[in-house]
Amino acid sequence: MKICCIGAGYVGGPTMAMIAKQCPDIPVHVVDLNEARIKAWNSDELPVYEPGLLEVVTEARGRNLTFSTRVEAAITESDMIFISVNTPTKTYGMGVGRAANLEFVEKCARQIACVSKGHKIIVEKSTLPVRTAEAVKRILSSSGNGATFDVLSNPEFLAEGTAVEDLLTPDRVLIGGDSASAIESLAAIYARWIPRERILTSNLWSSELSKLTANAFLAQRVSSINAISALCEATEADVDEVARAIGTDSRIGPKFLKASVGFGGSCFQKDILNLVYLCEHFGLQEVATYWEQVVIMNDYQKRRFGEKIVKTLFNTVSNKKIAIWGWAFKKDTNDTRESSAIYVCRDLIRERAKLHIYDPRVSQAQILLDLQNAMLDSNGQLSAVDKMLIEQNVTMAADSYQAAENAHAIALLTEWDEFKTLDFKRIYGTMPQPAFVFDGRNILDRQALGKLGFEVHAIGKC
Ligand code: NAD
Ligand code: UDX
Repeated sequence: MKICCIGAGYVGGPTMAMIAKQCPDIPVHVVDLNEARIKAWNSDELPVYEPGLLEVVTEARGRNLTFSTRVEAAITESDMIFISVNTPTKTYGMGVGRAANLEFVEKCARQIACVSKGHKIIVEKSTLPVRTAEAVKRILSSSGNGATFDVLSNPEFLAEGTAVEDLLTPDRVLIGGDSASAIESLAAIYARWIPRERILTSNLWSSELSKLTANAFLAQRVSSINAISALCEATEADVDEVARAIGTDSRIGPKFLKASVGFGGSCFQKDILNLVYLCEHFGLQEVATYWEQVVIMNDYQKRRFGEKIVKTLFNTVSNKKIAIWGWAFKKDTNDTRESSAIYVCRDLIRERAKLHIYDPRVSQAQILLDLQNAMLDSNGQLSAVDKMLIEQNVTMAADSYQAAENAHAIALLTEWDEFKTLDFKRIYGTMPQPAFVFDGRNILDRQALGKLGFEVHAIGKC
């Protein structure tokens, strides 16, 4: 058995590294068109920051794990091919802003069809709209080389920041397909380290739809608790106390009830919008409207946070320095896709605030790129005014202290652990009074900060 994976991103890299680690006798070849990414996978500066990942990669790399840009060769040599390419929301044409862009998946299928010989198992690892496997099968069947294929759906449930742990001990692995022998080939790989009872099998369509549904349910919990956080702020209830009270009901459970400045990441919004699009496509308008509300609530939560900063700072932040702590969409990752920080900061920049941004894992170039993309107009252009606003109002800070020095306010947007143990007395001494803290993750000790003199605003607390 030889495996390859097309797409060396946040999913392809870590998942294949774990398979290679657990199955030293199986050669695993990860390929990507992006040369810089492959170069980074072959170095000690991995393109993906995940706790514990470097150890997993270095154990297997050079033994049975290889990274290269030789896509065709990898396909030709492999018996099982994972497709783990990006499936972003469409930015043009039919379904713009909602449907998943499947051009990268289709390209992979065509390339596989073109160069394959013999029999291969194709595994959809990317998150795909239900019934995509039908299109993949049709494309593969057009292979003129007499090659035959089985297509499986094997969605990935890892979360960034905990990817290694999630891959090592997943709640479940899901394999959808219509060939029992193909399903068993893939199940046997996972069974090397995952108990059989956690390897679920289903038909192709249930598997594809389960992935979108899981993300929609998870995001729905975050939007639900965030909706309640707004009501808490109006009524002197405390959202963490409410979350604890409802989370101890075993039917509700305690996870994913952390109120925040809004969910981010490359998956939740994209997958819900894709679900909404699918529902509309099948004429299920009420179902579409129901799920879309999860995203609408999330946009409200991000907007509300920025507005609260402006209102609290006496209705103007123009020319006021504001420290931004955290840019990644959650802690323990360098991924910034759809991070709430981007949208909160965009709104503050348009209010003419002077932002001093610090994140322990995100580069200056990435932060500027994110802001530029968030400020593009409907024609995809960055206006001269917005370009100037970014140039004049955004500064990178070397650490949290530097960001906060002389700042009117601190906005904490990512829950990095290091923010909890800072010397807040020192920070208070460097800020003009009143010194405001806006804790978008509810991780700071409000009472202790209050005693030092800070005015602290958290989510869902008065
Ligand atoms: P990513 O953008 O980090 O990586 C995708 C990679 O595929 C890129 O490096 C790109 O260059 C490469 N690629 C695209 N087309 C290619 C082609 N034709 N040939 C070779 N390489 C090609 O994306 P990701 O975050 O790894 O997500 C991949 C898929 O997994 C998506 O469908 C996503 O929804 C899903 N997913 C992501 C996560 C997550 O936490 N990021 C979790 C579960 C599922
Ligand atoms: C998610 C799913 O959890 C994972 O199963 C799927 O494979 C990919 O999408 P990810 O986006 O990497 O994973 O991280 P996740 O931990 O789900 O967090 C998503 C966003 O929700 C983050 O911005 C996080 O800060 C936020 N969140 C999460 C909250 O605001 N409150 C919570 O209680 C949980």
